[in-house]
Amino acid sequence: MRVLGIETSCDETAAAVVVDGSVVLSNVVASQHDVHTPFGGVVPELASRAHCEAILPTIRAAVARAGVTLEQIDAIAVGHRPGLIGSLLVGVAGAKALAWSLGKPLVGVDHVHAHLYAGVLVQHGDVPGEHPLFPALGLIVSGGHTSIYTLASWLEPKRLGATIDDALGEAYDKVATILGLPYPGGPNLDRLAQAPGADERVADLPISRLSPTSLDFSFSGLKTAMLYEVRGIPEHPAHKRPDSTIHTPPPLTDERRRDLAATFQRAACRAVTLKLERALMQLRDQGLSPRALLTGGGVTANSRLRSELTRFAEANGLEIRLPAMSLCVDNAAMIAGLGYQMFKAGMISDLSLEPVPTTAC
Ligand code: KG4
Ligand code: ZN
Repeated sequence: MRVLGIETSCDETAAAVVVDGSVVLSNVVASQHDVHTPFGGVVPELASRAHCEAILPTIRAAVARAGVTLEQIDAIAVGHRPGLIGSLLVGVAGAKALAWSLGKPLVGVDHVHAHLYAGVLVQHGDVPGEHPLFPALGLIVSGGHTSIYTLASWLEPKRLGATIDDALGEAYDKVATILGLPYPGGPNLDRLAQAPGADERVADLPISRLSPTSLDFSFSGLKTAMLYEVRGIPEHPAHKRPDSTIHTPPPLTDERRRDLAATFQRAACRAVTLKLERALMQLRDQGLSPRALLTGGGVTANSRLRSELTRFAEANGLEIRLPAMSLCVDNAAMIAGLGYQMFKAGMISDLSLEPVPTTAC
């Protein structure tokens, strides 16, 4: 069964064709990078307009690269939540129009849940792996979300915890800016942290635990600690002394920038594995034994996080599903993949499907 996936939740216009929920025939992503770079972040109104321009060429390219015609598509899946409302609207309207005009079923997919699916997709020509065994533990680390899930099946994700402030990718991007690294922040920080000779213990950075049982994340303290390492700790205005900082940091040489990047990366990754360890322990205490770790989101492209997650899974007897590098960030193949599972379960939408800015859970 061939599913056309459509994704427009933020600043990537994407379309993909996936067979039987596992083999990616095509995966086209039109990035709006150049539109938003001058503003230092995504401008929602510009994003919606760019989606309007890109959606038809992107869908045409996905269908053509898959070597099929629109008539040979069996269902249309669209990311309809969560995201920027104007951006979602373009994809949802496009998917509804296609579904109606072609007489094909429509499936509305939660974008965040779809990230968990990215790790089971394979490229055309590769042999599909065994689907992971449920129950599974799920981790999403992206620019907008950082959450832990437990899944009894693809259709029953239950969120156990989420960030109470910044998402991990957001923290990477902000810390990259603090370190003076160019856009895109996360990948550049990752690259610098891997530079030969980097000292990953150049500062004592906080790893947030929150309450002893919490499965939530917090990255704002880590981000602020990095700010202080670079700029010094500002003195409280009420106690101002002539020497205006309490702690004057060493100059931000190339070497210190590299060491701080490695130190941040170590703390950020540890914050993630610490909460996964907790989640696994709590689930096992409840008599649930996850058999796989499903992961997704832009930060699963991070070199250190990938190896730490692999180590965590091996140490705990979990099968791990890490997305291919091209499927870590936003894409429509993951929408088509989860859409296939939903279609099989009869979770079909009608033309009243609406864009929703929040995730379902
Ligand atoms: O999943 P995604 O495209 O966005 C959301 O759906 O929110 O992820 C984008 C995020 C950005 O914050 C980007 O800096 C981060 O993923 N990212 C990375 C790496 N590659 C992408 N962060 C750390 N290391 C990387 N290698
Ligand atoms: Zn995403």
